[in-house]
Formats: sequence, C-alpha cells, structure tokens
Amino acid sequence: ENIRSVPTDYFYLSEDFVSALLPRPGKFAHKGTNGHGLLIAGSAGMMGAAVLASKAAIRSGIGLLSCHVPAQERTILQTTVPEALIGVDRSEKCFSGIDHLDPYTAIAIGPGLGKAPETVEGIKELLIRWKGKMIWDADGLNILAENKYLLDFLPENSILTPHPKEFERLAGKSENDFERLNKLSIFANHYRIYILLKGAHTVIASPCGKCWFNTSGNPGMAKGGMGDVLTGVLLGLVASGVSPLEAVLTGVYAHGLAADLLATEKGYRGICAGEVAENLGKAWRILE
Ligand code: APR
Ligand code: MG
Repeated sequence: ENIRSVPTDYFYLSEDFVSALLPRPGKFAHKGTNGHGLLIAGSAGMMGAAVLASKAAIRSGIGLLSCHVPAQERTILQTTVPEALIGVDRSEKCFSGIDHLDPYTAIAIGPGLGKAPETVEGIKELLIRWKGKMIWDADGLNILAENKYLLDFLPENSILTPHPKEFERLAGKSENDFERLNKLSIFANHYRIYILLKGAHTVIASPCGKCWFNTSGNPGMAKGGMGDVLTGVLLGLVASGVSPLEAVLTGVYAHGLAADLLATEKGYRGICAGEVAENLGKAWRILE
C-alpha cells in the first residue's frame, strides 16, 4: 500500500542556523500582538502533562495562554501556572469538547489527554471547526491513529510530534531506520504537515520534502514529561506568530539546548522535565 518515496533533502540543525531563523520580538509588542494559545491537555490522573506543557508555553513567547481542562482538575493548573487562563470542560474527568475557538491563534492538543470515548468525539468536532494552526502530541496522536480518516481533516501545516511508538501507530511498522525515515517524509508530504519523530536525534520532516536532524539534547532527557515540554514550546512559538517551519526548527533545538545547559549544572541524572521548562529562558537568551 502506498509504496513510494519522495525526493528528500537532509540537513543538520546548527546553533547559528537556528539563531538566524528565530524571529526577534518587536519592541512595541504587547500581549495582544503576541497571540493567544489554547492548550487542550490533561485528564484525571494525568494533569502533570498539562502543567509541564503550560510552563513551557508561557516561556516561549506567547502573549496569553488558555488551558482547557476537565472540571475537577482545574485547581491543579490554576495553582501551578498562575499565568494561564483556565477554561473548564463540561466533563469532570476528561476533554469532551470546547465551545469557543475564536480568540485563539493556535491550538495544541494531546499531553495527558487520555482516550475516553467523549474525548474522541470532542476531537472529531474540533477538527471540523478549527482550520487554524495546530500541534498534536501523545494521546491526541493516538486518537488520530485509531481513527485514521481524521488525518485528512488536519489543517495544512499542522505539527505532529510522535515518538517512535506513536509514529508506528500512525504510519505502521518499519523494518529499519531508513524505512522509517522514508515513511516520515511520505507522511509529511501526503498530509501537508510537519512531523517530528522524537528521539536522541529528533528528525523534522516538512511537507515540501526536507528533513532536519536535531543536534541538541542529551540522554538526561529520556524521562517522562520531556515531550510535554516540547509541545508547550511549539505552542508558545506558533501562537505568538512564528511560522510552523521556523517554530519546529527553533523549538526542537531550544528544547534540547535548555536540557543541555541544565545538564552542565546538574548532570544527566539530575535534570527533570519541569526544570527544563523553567530553564528555557537560558536557551532563548543564547539563541535570541
Ligand atoms: N537524547 C536526546 N533527547 C532525548 C533522548 C536522548 N537520549 N531521549 C528522549 N529525548 C527527548 C526526545 O527527543 C523528546 O523530545 O525527550 C523527549 C521525549 O518525549 P516523549 O517520548 O514524548 O516522552 P514523554 O514526555 O514522557 O511522553 C509523555 O506522552 O508520548 C506519550 O504515552 C507517552 O507517557 C508518555 C507521555
Ligand atoms: Mg510524549
């Protein structure tokens, strides 16, 4: 089925390249011009993912962040991320749908979301109504993988951030790394999306047949929650007006760089996702 390959150019991400690409905030920016991101994340028992993504988003240039969370879990976010606005779902325990989408400049969905039937329905409805910028992660991706026809409804230039297992669910098994890389390019091209295959060297595939290998990051990142932080970074960038291409290249690199800087102080064992989110500023300082 669909065996072909797309012509692909391969590149490495260097610090100079990323730094040159990163848009500088304008002097007269205000929160109204820096965008309003919506994070749809978390479910009963998995609110940490929503907290981590939020902490990263508010440190990546966003003007306003709204988090849409299950009703009974609202206090967790309200107390841990006071910068965020909180919107409450009709459901106590999971995402089931959202009424107003007008204020938002980008939506990220997936960290800690769970796969309850109401959540699947909520995602279907969201995909019909929202044609703007989007970032997909974790259970958001798993729901797409279990309802593959939904992939055709993805807004063009959406960003998908699977780890290898999530990518396998989306695109099927690969015999080896070369086959996986080829599948990644085909997937990005076919659905006209950006797709990041996360790992020690995260690969970023663009819809136009280019692949970049990330060069930042370290083994201290092989810990729960690191991917949630990346989703927040990407939301912060895209919502604030950075193009999806510039956002994936600079965001993936900055995420790894923040962890590298932290590891020089605390060692690979000593770093954790929440601290990487809090350390993003050091990475932005270098790249800006
Ligand atoms: N070197 C460099 N970077 C690494 C390394 C490594 N050795 N190991 C992991 N990373 C980076 C990846 O590139 C990625 O950005 O850490 C991040 C890990 O992301 P995920 O695999 O999504 O991990 P996690 O945040 O724990 O996911 C949370 O969501 O994906 C679901 O069900 C999954 O429970 C999991 C949850
Ligand atoms: Mg993950």
